[in-house]
Parts: sequence; structure tokens; C-alpha cells
Amino acid sequence: MVPEPPISGPPSSEPPPPENPIHRFSELPTECDSLTLIAAPEDRPGADFADDVRAGLSACPKRLPCLYFYDERGSRLFERICELPEYYLTRAERSILEAHADELAALLAGPVDLVDLGSGNSGKTRLVIEALLRCQGRLRFIPVDISSSMLRESSLALVETYAGLEVLAVAGEYQAGLDYLDAEGGPPRLVLWLGSNVGNFTPPEAVGFLRRLGGAMRPGDALLIGIDLRKEPAVLVAAYDDAAGVTAQFNLNLLARINRELGGGFDLDAFAHEARWNDAEGRMEMHLRSLRGQSVEIADIGLRVSFAEGETIHTESSCKYSLEGIQELAAASGFAISRQWLDGGSRFSLSLMARGGASG
Ligand code: AVI
Repeated sequence: MVPEPPISGPPSSEPPPPENPIHRFSELPTECDSLTLIAAPEDRPGADFADDVRAGLSACPKRLPCLYFYDERGSRLFERICELPEYYLTRAERSILEAHADELAALLAGPVDLVDLGSGNSGKTRLVIEALLRCQGRLRFIPVDISSSMLRESSLALVETYAGLEVLAVAGEYQAGLDYLDAEGGPPRLVLWLGSNVGNFTPPEAVGFLRRLGGAMRPGDALLIGIDLRKEPAVLVAAYDDAAGVTAQFNLNLLARINRELGGGFDLDAFAHEARWNDAEGRMEMHLRSLRGQSVEIADIGLRVSFAEGETIHTESSCKYSLEGIQELAAASGFAISRQWLDGGSRFSLSLMARGGASG
């Protein structure tokens, strides 16, 4: 039957209701009833990467956004980084969750949906999932991650492991997660932002993002945020420049990705990975240092870039916070910390927060 055309009423001066952004997400096939995978729309596929490479390599000093580390290969390399002896962050955060996930679940007022921003392979999140399943029997889990292949793989593994778990996986950047939080009803949500991902923002950017996140949360929602703490620079430098060279491969993969996706002509042997502690800014920085004077063509975007010997591309900042700094970050973002846990070596923190700080 041909649907009848809608009857149009008289012209109205009312503005049209705002479009629910998640209605623009497309559903991807999953062959599994307890798993739904949706992808945020890409308005100009591939254009952001090309534009950001052009802008970053034309800037002085040169820079590239760390967001682009996480293609398929980069996501796999990051998984390996998380298991390196020098990269203590993942183990420290995991140890806090092992010790306190049940306490965390008991602190929540009632059944929740669990949202995970930048979940990667959901390794540590399993500890929270298990604690919530023990507490409330059933759980809807909403992981948000930029890597849809990783998301599909880890989500399928989760629904196969846990009866009572339903997964709605959202493939996209953090904004996709905020759009989801903003638009969806249902029970209160516990939002996880683990792994010190907040450290990859500058402090003002972190406040801006947390304020937007707070704006998308409802009363009764809670945020659990994992933040790496300031410590001896030698420990930090080793964590970002491991002996096996995995972090170097992760950093250089950014140039390899430009070669693969934008017709770049980078000779990876002509650049070296560098990890530095920037004391004034309180952050670890990763750079790619040009080992000789050279000029590189990136054919698909019609760009030729010149490098002096020793010149670097700044590829990542990882801000480290003091406990006072975390308090300030929460207050400036309109959150209040209700509970905070540290690992045994006081290297890493987990803070449970709700909206309602000084400026919230
Ligand atoms: C994902 N992010 C929090 C990691 C970090 O520690 O800044 C990425 C990373 N870079 C080098 N090693 C790990």
C-alpha cells in the first residue's frame, strides 16, 4: 500500500521541534539480539582528518590531534601499551576497580544504565559491569568509542559472557555519547570516563567538555572519572617511552596513517618518537622529531611540508593532576566529588562525581 502523503496544515510561526540527533545515527547489522550497534553520522567522511592534517602541519610549531592515533592499527597498539610494564595507568586503575567496584555499585541510589565514554576494549569496565550485575541483576551497557571494529568485537564478547547484559554500542566521538545522553530517557546513568582520557584535553578544554557532559546528564546520574596523578618525571617519561618501543610505533603510526589515507610520503625512519615532561604545564608530551632537513609531500591534499633537522610535530599532551587540581577541575565544571579512591601506590585516582559543584 502506498502511504498517503501527510496533510499539510496552515503555515505555522512555531519553530520546528529540534531534531533528536540520535535519530540520524545508522544501525549496523550485528547478528545478535542483545547487541545493537549504531554509528554517528559522518557529515563529510574523511574530511576532518584531511583538514586537521593540513591545519596542523601548516602551523608553527607543527602539531597533529591525538584523536587520529586510533585507527585499527593504532587501537591495537594502544591495547599493547596498556599491558606494558612501564605504563602503570591501566593496572593502577584496574586495581582500584578490583578493590572498590562493589562499593561503587552500592553507593548508587538504584538501578542504572552504564555509559562508557571511550571504552576501547572494555577491559576494566568489565569489573563495573560485573559489580552492577551482582547488584541489580540486569544491565544496559552503552559503550561509546571511535573505533567501530573494536567496539563490535568487545561488545560481542560482552554479550556472550554475561547473561542479563544488553549492549547498545555507539560508534563515534565523545559528542556522539553526549548526544545519546542528552536525548535518551530511561533509568539514571552511571557514566564512566576512565583511563585518564581527560588528560588528553588541556585543563580549559577539560572544563569545557565536563560542563557539556554535565549539561547532558540528568539529576540522579553520576560520573566516575579516572585521572592520572602527578609524580616523579622519570616514572612518567618511562610510561610514555617504553623499552620495547610500542609507544614509539603508536606515535609513528600517525605518519603511517597519513601515508595510507592521504597519499603521504613520510619516511618513518626519518622521524623519532620523543616523550617529554613539561613541568610548567604539568603534562607529558609526545612529539615526532625530524632526524634531518626534509620536505614531505601529502599528495591527496596537495600539501608539501618542510621540516628543519630537529623540528618536531607535537602529537599528544597527557595532563597529570594533583588531588587539589582534581577538586578544582570538578568545581570549575559544576561537579561535586562524592567519593574518591587511589591505588596502593597513590599513582592514579578514581572520583565519583555528581552535578552540583560550586559553579553547577
Ligand atoms: C588514551 N590516553 C589517556 C593515553 C595517555 O596516557 O595519554 C594515550 C597514550 N599515549 C601514549 N601512551 C598512551
